[in-house]
Amino acid sequence: MESMGGLKRTHDCYSITEESLEAEVVLMGWVHRRRDHGGLIFVDLRDRKGITQVVFAPEVDEKAHQKAHSLRSEYVIAVRGKVRRRPEGMENPKIKTGMVEVACTELRILNTSKTPPFPLDEDREVSESVRLKYRYIDLRKAHMVANLTLRHRVCQAMREYLSRHDFLEIETPMLTRSTPEGARDYLVPSRVNPGRFYALPQSPQLFKQILMIAGMERYFQIVRCFRDEDLRADRQPEFTQLDMEMSFIDEEDIMGLIEGLMQHVFSNALGVELNPPFPRLTYQEAMERFGTDRPDTRFGLELVDITDIASGCGLKVFNTIVESGGVVKAINGKGMADLSRKDLDVLTEFAQSFGAKGLAWVKIKEEGSWQSPIAKFFKHNEQQEIMERLQAVPGDILFFGADTAETVYRVLGELRLELARRRNLLPGKGFNFVWVTHFPLLEFDEDEGRFKALHHPFTAPSKEDLDLLDTEPSRVRSRAYDLVLNGIEIGGGSIRIHQEAVQKRVFKALNISDEEAEEKFGFLLEALTLGAPPHGGIAFGLDRLVMLMAGRDTIRDVIAFPKTQKAQCLMTHAPAEVSMAQLAELYLRPDWQREEDLS
Ligand code: AMO
Ligand code: AMP
Repeated sequence: MESMGGLKRTHDCYSITEESLEAEVVLMGWVHRRRDHGGLIFVDLRDRKGITQVVFAPEVDEKAHQKAHSLRSEYVIAVRGKVRRRPEGMENPKIKTGMVEVACTELRILNTSKTPPFPLDEDREVSESVRLKYRYIDLRKAHMVANLTLRHRVCQAMREYLSRHDFLEIETPMLTRSTPEGARDYLVPSRVNPGRFYALPQSPQLFKQILMIAGMERYFQIVRCFRDEDLRADRQPEFTQLDMEMSFIDEEDIMGLIEGLMQHVFSNALGVELNPPFPRLTYQEAMERFGTDRPDTRFGLELVDITDIASGCGLKVFNTIVESGGVVKAINGKGMADLSRKDLDVLTEFAQSFGAKGLAWVKIKEEGSWQSPIAKFFKHNEQQEIMERLQAVPGDILFFGADTAETVYRVLGELRLELARRRNLLPGKGFNFVWVTHFPLLEFDEDEGRFKALHHPFTAPSKEDLDLLDTEPSRVRSRAYDLVLNGIEIGGGSIRIHQEAVQKRVFKALNISDEEAEEKFGFLLEALTLGAPPHGGIAFGLDRLVMLMAGRDTIRDVIAFPKTQKAQCLMTHAPAEVSMAQLAELYLRPDWQREEDLS
């Protein structure tokens, strides 16, 4: 192994072009690939920026050529040489450095490498567990570098825009008390306060509100949040939010500011020009038309209500469901009448996996006649009316869902997405933002038999619904808003409660006793009595936003060191066991055992 021997990098492996012809350059990086061509040895030298071809020829430098024989993939090298045009027929117009090469006059091998656990060719499938174990190898891939570069640019653009709009970046504690956002807490024992625990923040919610009461007026932070919940492709136990809060504003101010923020971020980090204002849907409308509060509006296939027609038709199941307060809705699968019996069986099973009792369908034939097991239960005029409402024409297929509203929304909402996936309706459709507003303030938790906050307990109720808080809590709407991008919730926030009395009423509706409220949130309640301005804010899932911008399917691809579905880090093997001595110091006793360990 050699030192850098005083060599200084002059260029990166992306910037060597025809403009550098004849220049003497020094490059440093990794051996991406080595090819032996008789007398000549070619090395694709890679660094973070790109790849440059280096050629070792005995007539240019005998010693370097000799040494180059020992190079293997992922060796770390320094190369001095002259930039020259590639011989005719050897050019690679696909890459920026493809017209030139560096003829090496000095090679220094800075480090060797064992054979990497997987090759760095982009298109090879490598299992994710191997990728995560050797994350430093995985991150050498060009598309992973691109993802992290994009993430950096997004953060830069956010900071720029918010600083320009007079926001202060302020840090809030990681060792704190529970901040309720609906997940379990990660707890940290305190050595100096035996038996007491900090909670890692699920979000900086309470601190940012307190910062408003402190008169900071405009705050933001790019901040890590911790939530112990079941993981999915778009959920990690620790993730990053762009968190914001503002005083003396209303919903319109925040939405306008955020539209400008997204426009700035997409333009600067991705070169994509957005066209705000973004469309808005109320929660109610989103549910009725898309079956979900995070609608993917890149395609149609909307839910259409036909409860009134179904109530009088000849199909018993539909009648009974309507009589017992249920609904019947339909989706028009435009031009999808070619789905086979087998496809329909698979789709029925798909619907059943989301709780459907069945999935009735109708294929529209020439002249508008119905081909369907349930055709005979609908009179001609009922068929006509349904087709009109769904704007059905020959070649279409209609799907019906009948059940409680909740089940129909879930089933048809999912079916809509599944049809779009099957028919490839999504790729290349761009970025569809939509605001969802007017959420219910509370939702009833059947398991716990009490109301819970749909967002969090600090969200302000709509002024006009305030009186319903004590009488009909489920009808109270909130001043919350979510920003949805291509069917994924990327951000959510609300106007907050800034009056102690209202906050106490909401705690009461949530079945939080005065004592519990005092114990957990006493500091907030007190702060609300000491000059709290009207305020509100929002937080974005940075990982989700960057994932969508990068066109990836999982946030793991835009996080340098993500965890697995089981919340483990395969590289460092966290979480790990700790010594008895450490536990003792923290006054923790390891007598809790998992059930499977006991059996
Ligand atoms: P909320 O809980 O909606 O709001 O979180 C804001 C955004 O954070 C992202 N997000 C996640 N991303 C990755 N992994 C997770 N486990 C995860 N959980 C949430 C989502 C979500 O929209 N304090 C409030 C915000 C406010 O009211 O201002 C809050 O945290 O994209
Ligand atoms: P059945 O009368 O049970 O054979 O159902 C006739 C058709 O209606 C079948 O295609 C079922 O899949 C469908 N079906 C039954 N129950 C429902 C329901 N609740 N919602 C939608 N379709 C249903």
